[in-house]
Amino acid sequence: MDPQMMTSMFDDVERVLVSEQEIHERIVALADEMNAIYSDADLPILVCILKGAFMFLADLTRHLQFRHEVDFMEISSYGAGTTSSGVVRILLDLASSVDGRHVVIVEDIVDTGHTLDYILRNFAARNPASVRVATLLNKPSRREIEVPVDFVGFEIPNAFVMGYGLDYAEQYRNVPYIGVLKPEVYQEGTED
Ligand code: IMP
Repeated sequence: MDPQMMTSMFDDVERVLVSEQEIHERIVALADEMNAIYSDADLPILVCILKGAFMFLADLTRHLQFRHEVDFMEISSYGAGTTSSGVVRILLDLASSVDGRHVVIVEDIVDTGHTLDYILRNFAARNPASVRVATLLNKPSRREIEVPVDFVGFEIPNAFVMGYGLDYAEQYRNVPYIGVLKPEVYQEGTED
């Protein structure tokens, strides 16, 4: 058997940065901020940026009290490591048109800002009525390009985080909290 299979993925976690309870409470508050802005008549489209934002969208949407639609877009900007390749690509595009519609981009984390900048420029060309951005996590100290963010769950320090939808090398997305892995786990990944 692969020796990796004999240890729990939770053994790889060095520390919990944001607990399940803290995430839940913050999402309820973010949903309230959005409930105060949007009404049924706006019928906004929430655009979940895959894969990292799937859990955030799933929890957020259940606390929204206005009619809305959801759609999905998959963007790739990272390889298997923890630093951006700098190349942003659309792997899956929206199913619906956003022409004349109110859009809320739902992101997992804004780090350097390059991915969100690309997404916002891409949406501007699609003629939406408005675009706002909701991100669960924000790492302002890492910003290389200024991007507008309207709804922020948590500002976090400069550390590579995983869990609650966010991955390291495509794993750990199912961990129910936001955590930091032990340094040796990242080192093993970069040796590949
Ligand atoms: P940016 O283009 O540098 O802002 O990076 C944005 C994307 O990189 C996010 O949507 C994530 O998919 C990924 N990312 C950035 N930081 C982290 C992290 O700490 N953990 C996991 N993924 C991250």
